Order: sequence, then structure tokens, then C-alpha cells
Amino acid sequence: MNEFPVNRRTFLATGVAVVASVSLGHASADAGGPGHVEGPSDERRSPDARTTPLTRDIVLSVNGVDRALQVDTRVTLLDALRDRLGVTGSKKGCDQGQCGACTIHIDGERQLACLTLAVAAQGRRIVTVEGLARGDRLHPMQQAFIDHDGFQCGYCTSGQIMSAIACVHEGHAGSDSEIREYMSGNLCRCAAYPNIVAAVNQARLEMEKV
Ligand code: FES
Ligand code: FES
Repeated sequence: MNEFPVNRRTFLATGVAVVASVSLGHASADAGGPGHVEGPSDERRSPDARTTPLTRDIVLSVNGVDRALQVDTRVTLLDALRDRLGVTGSKKGCDQGQCGACTIHIDGERQLACLTLAVAAQGRRIVTVEGLARGDRLHPMQQAFIDHDGFQCGYCTSGQIMSAIACVHEGHAGSDSEIREYMSGNLCRCAAYPNIVAAVNQARLEMEKV
């Protein structure tokens, strides 16, 4: 026979007791009890904190051109590029650093624009997919994506290309498995992965000639 019989009634009673104790704990904390952490009330915040504007005048160097704009200090670089400057090549997929669609280069390194504040990008060299071609001549990575059908819908493609170029510069494109590993932060819902790997291999050879 079970030494600790649990039927529906005792199970529900136990659950109610647990919920009640948790609620009481919160009430106690809200009332200044153990565990209560006081934050500054509006009255006690310094006048500066309430009146300081959240906007800043900044200048961003985008694809070799200085662009002046006023931004909320909380605006991401991705939103500043797309919504304020009309530089829409970088895409917003997840907006949470998970998909790689927003990948750009900052000072020559790949970065996620959705996780970078616009104000933090001042004085840095920002390059998006729009800044890769030289006149009519595409970057070897862009050409390779075309040659190998490295995309279907194309939504992830600008991020893939920016990541792939960095991948080659970092010396992480030496084999198919290395390319897959170092491109793993760039997701493709169309699953064009084999074609992307082929494109990176072709572009690496072209880029090494330069
Ligand atoms: S939009 Fe930046 S990682 Fe997905
Ligand atoms: S080509 Fe469609 S998501 Fe990559």
C-alpha cells in the first residue's frame, strides 16, 4: 500500500497552499518585507533623470558617407539604418540576435545591427550590403551567391553575404564543415545551405587573388 497516498483532493489542497504562500510572499515584499528592493520613486529621482532628453544628434559613417540624424538613444542601429536612413539592405528577421539577417560590418567585423545601439556606432565604419559593389562590379561574394543560386526568397541573403565575407577574412572558410560552423549564426528558412557553402568556396578563391 502507498505510504503517502495522494488523491485529487490532497493534490489540489497542496497546490492552493503553495500558491497562497507565494502570493503572501509577494505581498510581504511589496509591503517592504524581507526581500523587498526599493527603487527610486518619481518623486525621489533626480530632476535630471526626469528631464534629460532621450534623443541625441549623431553622425553615422555608412558605406563611406557621413549621415547626420537625431535618434532616440534606445534605437538600434538596424532601425536607424532602415527607418531613418533608408538603407534597407539589412533585414530584420528576429530582432533578437538569433537569425543573422541583420548582419553588417562595423570596423571590418561582422556585427548584428539589431543588437547594436545607433549611438554606440558613432565614429565607426559601418558597411552594409549596399556598400559592397564597386560601381557595376559586384563583390565576389555577391557574384558567387548568384552563380550558385545561394538564395531562394532572398530575405536572409544580405546577412549571409556579409557574414560570408567576414568568414573568409577571419580565415574560417577553409572547408565545407568550417564554413557551416562559422556561418551557423545565419539562418535560412529556404534551406539554401548547400548552395551558400558552394558560393563561399568560390568567393574565397576569388578573394584570395586580390
Ligand atoms: S534580426 Fe538581428 S539577428 Fe535576427
Ligand atoms: S533564401 Fe529564403 S530565408 Fe534564406
